[in-house]
Amino acid sequence: MNELLNEILDSCRHHTNEGNLANYIPQLAKVDRNRFGICVVTPDGVFRAGDWQAPFTMQSIVKPLILLLALMDKGEAYVRNLVGVEATGKPFDAFNYSDQAMKSEHINPMINTGAIALCTAIEGYTYEEKFLRLLDLAKKLSGNPHLRVDEEVYYSEKATGNKNRALAYMLKAYGLVHDRVEDVLDVYFRACSIQVTTEDLAKIGLVLASKGKNIFTDELLVSSDYTRYVNAVLTTCGMYDGSGEFALNVGVPAKSGVGGGIMAVVPSRMGIGIYSPALDEKGNSVAGIKALEQLSKRLDLTIF
Ligand code: DON
Repeated sequence: MNELLNEILDSCRHHTNEGNLANYIPQLAKVDRNRFGICVVTPDGVFRAGDWQAPFTMQSIVKPLILLLALMDKGEAYVRNLVGVEATGKPFDAFNYSDQAMKSEHINPMINTGAIALCTAIEGYTYEEKFLRLLDLAKKLSGNPHLRVDEEVYYSEKATGNKNRALAYMLKAYGLVHDRVEDVLDVYFRACSIQVTTEDLAKIGLVLASKGKNIFTDELLVSSDYTRYVNAVLTTCGMYDGSGEFALNVGVPAKSGVGGGIMAVVPSRMGIGIYSPALDEKGNSVAGIKALEQLSKRLDLTIF
């Protein structure tokens, strides 16, 4: 497997020259666009190639964890009532919302409005506590107790995240958020700034692929009802308005982030983490998608 991963990175490396680094969060534009790494975790072990160890921030890859924790804390009915599950076909930070589109059933947990609304559903006496519980979940699912926030990215995003501020105020105007917008956004910004490697993502992906179990210890970490829910939403909206194409060409639940990471979930088989920071116009890693397309073909990963 290590040989296959190296081969795939080599044949996709030229794609790291395509696309652009996210620059709307200034700190994200400072990374080396040549970084390219992958990690695959299966019941047979951990397989790695390239810059698998390079740190980057989760960004939107944290959205499935926000959804998971909201489901664990409040249950399916509450979450469904707050935020729907329909694919939006829109960019992650779409702004052109009509009155109709601001109804719960038209908001998806994988786009910014849905994820921001779901931050309010996480249990915690304070917003600080809500965030720490989310970080704990990320540590538990990745098996990495050292996960932490990249403070520079967090401050950079907090200082410039006015589009998210506007979206959050819009949610408040439509009654989908009741608490102080800055408190809610603080959880969202910190969550996006959790620093990971491809191995952390692959391990989280494997838990989602294994009905909520850590297959190495046999411990049930999350109910399979909730991993089913998350994987279904990842399939229809994890790659935003590129989700249809991704379903066709890769065919597994996955989530991208503007930090350049992608986490992929291959049910009953493996978790995959990949990193290459240059993005297409939809905010998805260009070389990351190309490598996943090849891996899917070589190992016949598609679920369809
Ligand atoms: O909301 C934002 O701007 C970021 N913190 C996360 C967006 C993101 O990762 C979209 N993914 N491709």
